[in-house]
Amino acid sequence: MARSRPCRPGARPTREMTLSAVPLPHAGAAAQAGIDALWPICLALAQQRREGRPPLADGVPLRWTEAGGYALRPGWDTQAEQLFALLKPLLDRQGAGADWTIAQLGQSLDGCIATHCGDAFYVNGPEGLTHLHRLRALSDAVVVGASTASLDDPQLTVRHVAGPHPVRVVLDPRLRVRADARVFRDGAAPTLLVCEAAHRAQAQARLGADQVIALAPDADGRLPLPALRQALAERGLRTLFVEGGGVTVSQFAQQGCLDRLHLIVAPVVIGAGRPGLQVRRADAMAQALRPPTRTFAMGGDVLWDMDLRG
Ligand SMILES: NC(=O)c1ccc[n+]([C@@H]2O[C@H](COP(=O)([O-])OP(=O)(O)OC[C@H]3O[C@@H](n4cnc5c(N)ncnc54)[C@H](OP(=O)(O)O)[C@@H]3O)[C@@H](O)[C@H]2O)c1
Repeated sequence: MARSRPCRPGARPTREMTLSAVPLPHAGAAAQAGIDALWPICLALAQQRREGRPPLADGVPLRWTEAGGYALRPGWDTQAEQLFALLKPLLDRQGAGADWTIAQLGQSLDGCIATHCGDAFYVNGPEGLTHLHRLRALSDAVVVGASTASLDDPQLTVRHVAGPHPVRVVLDPRLRVRADARVFRDGAAPTLLVCEAAHRAQAQARLGADQVIALAPDADGRLPLPALRQALAERGLRTLFVEGGGVTVSQFAQQGCLDRLHLIVAPVVIGAGRPGLQVRRADAMAQALRPPTRTFAMGGDVLWDMDLRG
């Protein structure tokens, strides 16, 4: 879809406003039937995790295995099996395993998640957007960085699939995101603002004490993400989805707080855009990060599922 847009943030429509106008992929009734049957079960598994109930009993079209983790019973179609395989690491989070963080980045072949101006519309195809909304619906909270909150003004709600909205979490250490950003004023779902302790009073005056998590920065001036995970867990938010952008996802990876990353690579070359995942530099290839990976076709894009604990 060709678009041209001036490099002026104020002139940009929001990512979600624009993409919501894109028709969802039409897989055909037969191909979609298995997914339509599986998706409510996925939502039920996420809900039982939130409520701390044990894994599903027998008699449903999937089972909890002795090794731990769900397995589909026979009879599902290929599309449903593929969706289940993709989501299984997230669906398997039960009990103590619910403290878990997944992130996603949609990127170009040259590793950019947006143009240098911050335009990220249509890096990926519509299937990627549906996947993004699935990850939101299955997680307790969705996390974004200050630049994404400012540039995209996202809603971070679940609209392209059925499912509950996650709690929205904005990492904005020095309160540069506008107070009238949509997540702070639309009331669609609870929103938490995470800032440096020095800005606690200002943040609380803006949003109320309940909506603010204030953290002392670490020696490098970063918000300590293990402390954030702990603070969110104390609010019952244990399974987290880090939606972007690249700086925020990289911070989670660098601070050892990321379990899984879905990199959705699109056949497009952006050129000197905003970078995606940034990790510690390797001098030799032997030092490079080589996590276990799986790949999934996602329309014209390819999703790389990276197990960062593998
Ligand atoms: N393609 C995709 O999948 C995708 C997804 C989301 C967003 N995007 C695009 O990505 C761009 C924004 O991404 P970005 O990488 O530039 O920025 P970002 O990750 O959205 O935000 C980074 C900022 O968040 C704050 N932050 C995050 N983690 C922090 C930590 N641990 N400690 C302290 N501060 C922290 C900092 O704010 P301060 O600067 O105030 O210190 C940091 O500079 C936008 O253009 C958006 O459209 C693309």
